[in-house]
Amino acid sequence: MNPSTAAVASVRDVSKTYGARKALDGVSVEVAAGEMVALIGPSGSGKSTLLRSITGLHPIDPGIGTIQVFGETVQQNGRITGAVRKARGKLGMIFQQFNLVGRLSLFSNVMLGALGRLPGWRGVFGVWPRADKERAMAALHRVGVSDYAAQRANTLSGGQQQRGAIARAIVQGAQAILADEPVASLDPVSARKVMELLVELNKRDGMGVIVTLHQVDYAIRYCNRVIALQKGKVVYDGPSTGLDSKRLIEIYGPEYEDAFWEAKA
Ligand SMILES: Nc1ncnc2c1ncn2[C@@H]1O[C@H](COP(=O)(O)OP(=O)(O)OP(=O)(O)O)[C@@H](O)[C@H]1O
Ligand SMILES: [Mg+2]
Repeated sequence: MNPSTAAVASVRDVSKTYGARKALDGVSVEVAAGEMVALIGPSGSGKSTLLRSITGLHPIDPGIGTIQVFGETVQQNGRITGAVRKARGKLGMIFQQFNLVGRLSLFSNVMLGALGRLPGWRGVFGVWPRADKERAMAALHRVGVSDYAAQRANTLSGGQQQRGAIARAIVQGAQAILADEPVASLDPVSARKVMELLVELNKRDGMGVIVTLHQVDYAIRYCNRVIALQKGKVVYDGPSTGLDSKRLIEIYGPEYEDAFWEAKA
């Protein structure tokens, strides 16, 4: 298969059980290259578990389930395969916490994105090729946090850290971004900037984006397609314009309507 047209992720019949609880229950979804998809659903519905399964951070249940990333099988019969390393090189991961190495500067964190392409010793001794340093500064500039390049990552605000993680994905040369609640702890203006950056990477750079969101209005505004999980099952997969209040009540339960109107009030 041509890697440029292979799906970002093909998830087939995937289950993931923790003890007695099925975090994912027979999930099948396919996200094409260049798509931008929102993953929504109530707390505990399996969104993070699905992203972690795609990135091979934990094995899925043994059985028929398989996961392919850019055409390479990364999970099969309950095992993470050797192809996962290569797949991870193509995926930029932006998670709400543990995004950056706290004691390193923002610049060094972004440079870590280039590590996969360099002989190990260069990264270890901080001997970065000039072209990579320039790429890192350009990426920081592009995401709007170049003024903070020298600051330790653990002293940056949440929004600055999220943008730093996006810069790292750019330097990494990622072909897709998996973002787990990248805007959950951000004020509305910072959240909008992060979402607009993801849209820009999708539209201008052709990166696939899978983003979990708690805010349904963000999903509708920024993503054409929405996948909704409920208790580990896919309960909606279609255009975000199809998410009317009836569907949202199906996804989030009858209290959704009250919560929605309280939020608007
Ligand atoms: N490491 C773990 N050990 C045991 N149970 C887990 C583990 N990780 C997740 N679970 C359980 O799996 C289910 C799905 O969790 P997951 O984190 O994927 O939900 P989520 O949709 O991302 O929720 P949220 O919106 O709150 O982030 C939950 O019931 C959770 O308690
Ligand atoms: Mg989660």
